[in-house]
Amino acid sequence: MSVVRVTPRGAERWVRGHPWIYRSEVLDQPPEPGLVEVHDPRGRRIGQALYSPGSEIRLRLLERGGRAVDAAWWRERLTGCAERRAGIDATAYRLVHAEGDEIPSLVVDRYDRWLVVQILSSGLETLRGALVRALVELFAPEGILLRNDAPARRREGLPVETELAHGSVPREIEVREGEIRYLAAPWEGQKTGAFLDQRPNRILAARLTREGGRALDCFTYHGSFAVHLARRAASVVALDSSREALERGAANAALNGLTNIEWREADVFETLRALARGRERFDAIVLDPPAFAKSRAAVPGALRGYREINLRAMRCLAPGGTLVTASCSFHVGLPDFLTMLAEAAGDSGRPILLRRILGQGEDHPEVLTVPETGYLKGAVLQAG
Ligand SMILES: C[S@@+](CC[C@H](N)C(=O)[O-])C[C@H]1O[C@@H](n2cnc3c(N)ncnc32)[C@H](O)[C@@H]1O
Repeated sequence: MSVVRVTPRGAERWVRGHPWIYRSEVLDQPPEPGLVEVHDPRGRRIGQALYSPGSEIRLRLLERGGRAVDAAWWRERLTGCAERRAGIDATAYRLVHAEGDEIPSLVVDRYDRWLVVQILSSGLETLRGALVRALVELFAPEGILLRNDAPARRREGLPVETELAHGSVPREIEVREGEIRYLAAPWEGQKTGAFLDQRPNRILAARLTREGGRALDCFTYHGSFAVHLARRAASVVALDSSREALERGAANAALNGLTNIEWREADVFETLRALARGRERFDAIVLDPPAFAKSRAAVPGALRGYREINLRAMRCLAPGGTLVTASCSFHVGLPDFLTMLAEAAGDSGRPILLRRILGQGEDHPEVLTVPETGYLKGAVLQAG
């Protein structure tokens, strides 16, 4: 195994609980990616890491001790991940949340009897055979799909592709989430086929919806919130710009025997403006937009976008109605998000209560010393 020495600053990063060491903090530069032994400037071994020669993030801590990263190691690490998910009331959830589960740059999502995997560093790519073998041995899936089409792979000099790694994987997989069922699309759907991070928030949103009320699900994708809401609301309007996602949404409604959802292919900004102008009122509204801020520089513009849709949604709430609102922009932190909501509430001219602060599901664990593990934040608001 190659040895890579790091600067005191690099070594300090691991002591402080962050698994990344950057290019400028690495003293040796072996040409090939892979698992390496890492030494501090005095030559003491401080751990084993995934090494990516072409990436700004050169080292990702995998193992603090000298223990071999072999089949038994993978079995133990992955078993730990599975145990942390015990009791989740769904057949689709995240099984491995990368740095949040101490397996940096690895995402594994479970969809019933199938696994969808993302390998997001060139260092981890070299361990792909061992990883796939361990997943097969431990979870006996009917198929493993590598959704290696995430743009992050480009920064690692890796091909961007979708590939079958084991067995077979259907185009659509029926899964259960609490009381409802939905179809996920592992090959072509967004992310790995569904937005698993909102799972508990969807169940909560349904619980908060007034029986027999009117609901609006903005940025519905394939209707995951809408289907939950429709079990209680008399009617739901579901908005998205993707026709393909809406078609699966309609199939998801049918799967649950629901006929009270209207699927509208529309721009949420325009539609919310029109609904507010028309004085339309809803008892429950969900705002789950895509990440408006893809970089730090984009934050001010993103906050203006969030403020606009939240203001319009607040104006469309019936008295006592609830708004479940979220942001999945990593660069927009919770304090900025709450400040934005306060400004929108001020503009709305209505009393708006903060009933609850939301985050990502417990299958997407956040490590306090690794801010990159947390990106989804949200709130439940109620109109007075
Ligand atoms: C974060 S996803 C929503 C996930 C969904 N709520 C769920 O729980 O599965 C964002 C969605 O917004 C849609 N979208 C993006 N921009 C939009 C716009 N301006 N108007 C309507 N939909 C939009 C995308 O097609 C995508 O389905």
